[in-house]
Amino acid sequence: MKKKVRNRSESSLLAVIDGVVTQPPPIWFMRQAGRYLPEYRKIRAGTGDFVELCLNPALAAEVTLQPVRRFGLDAAILFSDILLVPHALGVKLWFEQGEGPRLEPVNDQPAFKRMRENLDRVIVGQVYETVAKARALLANEIALIGFCGAPWTVATYLVAGRGTEDQAPAKELAMGDQILFGKIIDRLTTATVEYLIGQLRAGVDVVQIFDTWAGVLDPEGYERWCVKPTVEIIAKIRSAIPDARVIVFPKGVEFSGIEHLVQASRANAVSLDASVDRKLARRRLGSRCAIQGNLDPLTLVAGGEALDKEIDEIMETFHGTRHIFNLGHGIRPETPIAHVERMIARVRRRA
Ligand code: CP3
Repeated sequence: MKKKVRNRSESSLLAVIDGVVTQPPPIWFMRQAGRYLPEYRKIRAGTGDFVELCLNPALAAEVTLQPVRRFGLDAAILFSDILLVPHALGVKLWFEQGEGPRLEPVNDQPAFKRMRENLDRVIVGQVYETVAKARALLANEIALIGFCGAPWTVATYLVAGRGTEDQAPAKELAMGDQILFGKIIDRLTTATVEYLIGQLRAGVDVVQIFDTWAGVLDPEGYERWCVKPTVEIIAKIRSAIPDARVIVFPKGVEFSGIEHLVQASRANAVSLDASVDRKLARRRLGSRCAIQGNLDPLTLVAGGEALDKEIDEIMETFHGTRHIFNLGHGIRPETPIAHVERMIARVRRRA
């Protein structure tokens, strides 16, 4: 299949990722399709399980477009979940109402043996179909972002069988049985390469690798379980698709670790969480890659003057650099829609 090469002047997000400074910066936000939107809740109420919604191309494409239609954002992000990769490797996945994801835990050799070696083509095929449908419905100037979880973050859910406060089950396995944990990471790494190449070929313009729990590891663990697999994923994607665009998101990592990942992976862009020192980020990363972020999602919930002040500070700090306005993490379900509208208007007015 041929990759669609789109003219970067069509999309401000792609222009920034490819090296251009735009004013105002492109804007999208993590988890922009979701429960804070009444139109999402309506579709969600009509489908049984969350996984079913993710694997229904017509509905998933519709949900992907909802925030773009409502707010006129510069990018859509594929509606899916990072846990579809273990699901497509044969691991049972379901979501408990109000509690979050559940998986059959993979924390010993027999459970690892039960995992598939390759992605289930039917499952990932449904995701690729969503991509194609969403891309066809979007205007040319709106970028479509694909994504995956980084192997470490996916493994924290896979090993525990659920989300945990401190990711202790995965950390314990990583320390207690490095051989088995290494095999789990390798399996996820291989699957992720195939999955992202599939998304790019189906029509996404850029992919983001979410490493939500990268910050809980020590430097040695971060190098081994986060940096190394991410570097490998990006290198392998680019050996198949040389101009593939990648955004990395090493959440909760101290700045030297972020900088190291950017250098080692040659990512096109880095997403910064709200804790990162912006001036330092601008100074040290501004000439190396595009910088995405980093409004605290809680400031967006709070709204008012605190929100205005924070937006202004972000805009001033990154003025003149390749900046993508975004949150430091996913939007919270309790976020008032009026605050989102205020944020977008302020970012664009300050151009
Ligand atoms: O709009 C978008 O950003 C695209 C869709 C998207 C979802 N999940 C949909 C979703 C993306 C990019 C993700 C990523 C994701 N999923 C991450 C990494 C980013 C992050 O936020 O840290 C993680 C760790 C997951 C795993 C996951 N999925 C959890 C822990 C939960 C439960 C918590 C929650 O917010 O409900 C989910 C469920 C989920 N994924 C929802 C959505 C819209 C809510 C499900 C619902 O509608 O009930």
